[in-house]
This record gives sequence, C-alpha cells and structure tokens, in this order.
Amino acid sequence: MQDEIDVSGLRKFVAPEFVFGGGSRNLAGRYARNLGLSRILVVSDPGVAAAGWLDETLSTAAAAGVEAVATTEVSPNPRAAEVMRGAALYAAERCDGIIAIGGGSVMDCAKGIGIVASNHRPIEDFEGVDAVGRPCPPLICIPTTAGTSADVSQFAIIRHPSEPVKMAIISKAVVPDLALIDPETTASMPPFLTACTGIDALVHAIEAFASVASGPLTDMHALAAIRLIRENLAGAVASPADAARREAVMMGSLQAGLAFSNASLGAVHAMAHSLGGLLDLPHGQCNALLLEHVLAYNFPAAEDRCRRIGEALGLDLRGLSGPRALSRIFGFIQDLKREVGISGTLASCGVKRSDIPDLADYALADACIVTNPRRPSRGDIETVYAEAL
Ligand SMILES: [Fe+2]
Repeated sequence: MQDEIDVSGLRKFVAPEFVFGGGSRNLAGRYARNLGLSRILVVSDPGVAAAGWLDETLSTAAAAGVEAVATTEVSPNPRAAEVMRGAALYAAERCDGIIAIGGGSVMDCAKGIGIVASNHRPIEDFEGVDAVGRPCPPLICIPTTAGTSADVSQFAIIRHPSEPVKMAIISKAVVPDLALIDPETTASMPPFLTACTGIDALVHAIEAFASVASGPLTDMHALAAIRLIRENLAGAVASPADAARREAVMMGSLQAGLAFSNASLGAVHAMAHSLGGLLDLPHGQCNALLLEHVLAYNFPAAEDRCRRIGEALGLDLRGLSGPRALSRIFGFIQDLKREVGISGTLASCGVKRSDIPDLADYALADACIVTNPRRPSRGDIETVYAEAL
C-alpha cells in the first residue's frame, strides 16, 4: 500500500535548531548541559585550534560543568580513517555527545564519528541516501567558515578509504541538534578561504534553485542567498575587518544551506566531489572551476530557472535571447571569481585529459547527480570536464 503513494509532488523541509549572531558560540557549554550531556568529544582541526576557537569552546564546556575530550585530527577533505579513530576515541572516553567547531571538514568528520559511534560499522557502509540506521549522538556544530553549511545540512562528505573519491552521506540522522552560527568566528579566515567557501555557498544556492527537488520554501532561501552573497562576498574578501559584510555572507551561507539540504544539489557538486577525491583540492575551488560550465550545460533544460538565477545575481536579462542571457550569466560568474581571487582552470590545478573518464565515472555515481535539472550521459559529463580544462 505504502509503495502506491505518489511522492513526486511532495516536499519535506528539515532544519536544526540554530542560533545566529555574534557571540552565539559562547552558548555551546550551556546547550551541551541542557541536552543532558556530561562528557563530550570536541572535534576541531589544528588551524581552528591555533585561532583560539577550540580553547574557547572547551572553556564554555568547563564553565557549564561538562567534561570534554578534544581531537584535532581532521584533514581538509576528511579521511575515513580519521572518522574511525575519532569514533574509537569517543567510545574509549565514554562520551555522550559531540561538539564540532570548525569548517566543513571538521563538521563532516564529526558527523561521521557520530554515525560510527551509534552504528558500529565502517563509515563507507553509510554512503548514499538514508543509509544511516540508528540515530547519532547529540551534535552541536559551530561553523568557523561561511559556506559549507554542514551545520544545518543533511550531508556529510568523507573521503572513501580505498578509492580516490569522496562519499556523500545524505541522511536526516546527520542534521545537527543545534547550530551556533557566529559570524565573529569567520574573522580568522584568510581571504582565499573566504572566497572559496563563499563561492561554495553560492553554488549551493544555485544548484538548490535549479534542482528537480526544489520547492517554494527552498526557492525562497536559495534566491535570498544568491542576492546576499552577490552583494557582499567580494567586499568580505577585500575587507576582512568588515564585520557587517562577513555577517551578510554568513547569513547567505545559512540560507543556501537550508535550501540545498532540502532540495539537494546537482552536477557541479557531483563533479566537484569527484575532483576533490582525485586531487584533494579545496571543495569550493573545485565548484568554482566548474560552475559556469555546468550552468551552460543545464541552461537549455532549465532556461527559466537559470534566468531567475541571473536576475538574483543582479543581471538585467529582459529582452535577451537564450544564448545572450546565458553568455551574460557566464561572464558574470567569471568576473565574480576573478574579483574574489579564484583563477585558473582544471588543467592549471593538475587535471589531465586522461583523468576525465575516471572523473566522469565517479561523478555519475555521486548522489548529487540525481537532482540535476538535465540528466547527463557519460559523454555529457566528459564534455563539461573538457570545457573546464
Ligand atoms: Fe558544497
């Protein structure tokens, strides 16, 4: 009977409790105590620890009477082995909850640790959609970059233990219990990281809006995110001390996260995950290298959506033919990337033409490809990689 229900027109929306604003990070210990936690694993990385954010989190836990054990063993593009060691530490220390303070890699690794801590199997067993059986331990996320939105999303991205590819784990089980979204933490980001994570957020919004699983609620957040990031990202990169711009980019990232967590993504992310697995490049940079090329591929199948994306980017496309509208959007994205300091091509980042067949194979197997507005063939994906070369 259940199988006969037509779900194609239904849209669900999942979001964690979150607190947005300067200083919200200081609530971590109090919320941990309110969740009933007595001994938490705090997951971070060496850069975040050096910026002082880890010590500050440990202090809030101590002030709230919550014991804490810390690990900073997280690489950019986190490894399956790091997840497994984190889960072993969680078990050995008899923790009962997790706080993640860091960027997307830290939060994704913390989600992976939570999955393994509850389900007691290797992390690669949970790749794909809704493959996590038991709920994870309570998780509080404090993002220190404005872009990944792992703090509000149903996604965790982990490198496969034996193949050069990143696994997408998509499950309601990895939505944090609480996100403390504090724009002050982004003050420690170097400009290139601000640019890469900001473009990642922009791609989240664009792909969520173009997704075949989009709906009115995700559209609203996606369009608002595109506007906020377009208006503030270049300024935030050029003037790191401009707190108002950083806050606006953080809000854009949050709205993009609410959109993509529920509408999912598309070919830019599927292809970027494949690139990140092969080359270990920053995720946002991989997206940036592909964005306008995927948009050009999608345009014929989703012209109305692409035009609305262009308008949210501030472009006047009225009266323009399809090809001219596309050319205007394409050029704008290239200009924006240049303005924020992201240059180069796949080739200049080390991709060889001979890598393309393998990259295409992994991209086609990625969960994000399913919601792309145009269903690509292997040849289509190879062509887009070649255009971005
Ligand atoms: Fe992303």
